[in-house]
Amino acid sequence: MEMFEDKKGISPGRIIGLGIFFGGQITKKEVSVQSIKHSIQFPDDKTQELSQDGEYCIIEDKAHNQPYEVRFHDYEKVYSIPGLYEYLFYERLKCCSPETVCRLLEDQVKESPTDIKNLAVLDLGAGNGMVGQQLRHLGVEAVYGIDIIEEAAKAVERDRPDIYEDYYVADLTRMSNSFREKLKAKEFNCMTTVAALGFGDIPTKAFGEGFNLLTTPAWIAFNIKEDFLSDEDLTGFCLLIRRMIDAGIFDVSSRKRYQHRLSIHGKPLYYIAIVGEKKAQIPQEWFNGSATTKDTSILTSGDRS
Ligand SMILES: C[S@@+](CC[C@H](N)C(=O)[O-])C[C@H]1O[C@@H](n2cnc3c(N)ncnc32)[C@H](O)[C@@H]1O
Repeated sequence: MEMFEDKKGISPGRIIGLGIFFGGQITKKEVSVQSIKHSIQFPDDKTQELSQDGEYCIIEDKAHNQPYEVRFHDYEKVYSIPGLYEYLFYERLKCCSPETVCRLLEDQVKESPTDIKNLAVLDLGAGNGMVGQQLRHLGVEAVYGIDIIEEAAKAVERDRPDIYEDYYVADLTRMSNSFREKLKAKEFNCMTTVAALGFGDIPTKAFGEGFNLLTTPAWIAFNIKEDFLSDEDLTGFCLLIRRMIDAGIFDVSSRKRYQHRLSIHGKPLYYIAIVGEKKAQIPQEWFNGSATTKDTSILTSGDRS
């Protein structure tokens, strides 16, 4: 069992690694106003291997009489405990995706006439700001976040308030015209989306809407579980990305297979990071697929309603 301390009132933007206890040792000293100590355990039933989106941890703290379970994909709960997301995914499960995807983007941008600091990035599925933080670290000056849940925005405000120029809580599959125009006016020339495609998170339609908000040309940097790029993929991303490439809408400049993180059972989970350029808008018909067109399944809004 590992210990992790949740510190309320510590200076945001510096939360990673601060106040986290490993076997009673604090990794860095930090002043806290009020602290709650949590103990975190992974289920140890080795007979039942959990699917990636079924993974959870068991938390004990003084605020609850009983240990309670938190599913990793229950982002509302995860973000509501300061530092828990960083602890689970980065400390325990060695996630490296924000850094891997952003570095791949940096490498490609360096080979182009674009100066990375001049990117205006829309970070889709921004969560509590790990990707935004990485982009700022690389020198990007304008980073905007968007996520579907309020708790993500609250976590950014609490933990990394200086990262994003603006942070929107919105569902891109249900945008009002005024919101669409507001976002278009930002003239985003880059979109990042990390650890957020598939698994009932960002559906193809939201990805497509985000893509079409960008200027042409624009940079796109994302990652996706390798299974979702295989022929058996049911999320629709494999088909969408292939069609975008075939239609000359998206030009892939770099792709990299890498270990995104470990599962709670210690197995490597492989993802593909992809960086490329937007060359054209996704045609409107792809969004309006009707039963009579072959594009019906291309851009679907997923199961979040
Ligand atoms: C695993 S987190 C990744 C967060 C961040 N990109 C990172 O790498 O740390 C996935 C995020 O996608 C968000 N998300 C899920 N569905 C979404 C949608 N339709 N539109 C925008 N964000 C969504 C979730 O709320 C969650 O914050």
